[in-house]
Amino acid sequence: MKDIVMEKDQKKVFAKFNDLALGRRDITKHSSKDLPKYSYAVNEFVSVFHPSQMEVVVTKIVEENENTKSFWIKREDGESMPPFQAGSYITLEVHTNGRIYKRPYTISSDTDSLKEYRITIQEEKNGIVSHYMCYDCKENDKFTVYGPFGHFHYSMIRDSSDIICLAGGSGITGVRSMIFDLLKSKKVSSIALVYGTKTVNDILWKKEFDELAKKNKNFKVTYLLSEEKRDDYPYGLMDEELLRSLNLEGKTFFVSGPVAMYQALNEIFIKLDIPNKFIRHEEFRDPLETDEEEIYELTIHQKGNVTVIPCKSSETLVQSMEEGRFSAPVHCTVGVCGYCRSKLLSGTVKTDTSALRKKDVDLKYIHPCVTYPLSDVEIELP
Ligand code: FES
Repeated sequence: MKDIVMEKDQKKVFAKFNDLALGRRDITKHSSKDLPKYSYAVNEFVSVFHPSQMEVVVTKIVEENENTKSFWIKREDGESMPPFQAGSYITLEVHTNGRIYKRPYTISSDTDSLKEYRITIQEEKNGIVSHYMCYDCKENDKFTVYGPFGHFHYSMIRDSSDIICLAGGSGITGVRSMIFDLLKSKKVSSIALVYGTKTVNDILWKKEFDELAKKNKNFKVTYLLSEEKRDDYPYGLMDEELLRSLNLEGKTFFVSGPVAMYQALNEIFIKLDIPNKFIRHEEFRDPLETDEEEIYELTIHQKGNVTVIPCKSSETLVQSMEEGRFSAPVHCTVGVCGYCRSKLLSGTVKTDTSALRKKDVDLKYIHPCVTYPLSDVEIELP
């Protein structure tokens, strides 16, 4: 008897649901194709705290060492900088030599001081933007920045409460922000930092790390020098022996540094049977090997406009856009964030598809920031 009653009730519910679905279909059919003119309060709220781009001014420049400087930036409109997860980066837009360059830089300041951000930039060999920032940028200079973005951060749900940070060179920037945040918020039980640099003068924020280690028994720091032998510092590169000395059981690793360091560590992780799920690293992509240098034509379609510029087989399509004085739509520049995802209309390319969905690959979508031309190429930008 009970079953029969339930059946009747179910029929009523289904009938109501059908009416609802038909009614909605009718409304959709007769509704305007134009987008609504109003915006939702929540979107306006989000756009104040996380605008898609911000105009910022440099308030202070600090020389950290011979080839590294920190830049304090604040919003021109006087609003706070957006809240960010320690380890995130912003994309900095730099106009120089009549060209527009966009480069990602990790925020090195604390997550709870949002009046300003600090980004720390080391001059790279052949780095146009890092050279410009280290030698030409002055206080009160203005820039456009995008973000913060990124996935290199600690998660209480996903990661162990005992973590090991392996940082090399300027890779310390995001790690510094993470360590200060995690110790202050007491989100982790212990942190071991191994910080590798070439010489002792290259160590950034040594005093800060040493004081932090004195105040927090659960934080240990080891400085490792690769090009200077000193009695009071271990010498060499991060190797198996060093990792084994850290008591690896149940730890999550945060790795940030040059590509070569990550590649070397990756081999050690495999040897030590440490699964990928315990390893977090800043995203990077190796430049693809290209054969002889050829010059092709890149045709760009964007919002009804067509631009044709030269492109070299040795440069990514984004680099060619920069050289061609075309403002490229980029955030991460390493083929991970998907912001530059574009349709390949014609031509052949050498590209990294590891961050693309299979469907995107089938439909010939590419990330121009990690794509090299092998012929004349035609693409449609977002
Ligand atoms: S800029 Fe992020 S994928 Fe190209």
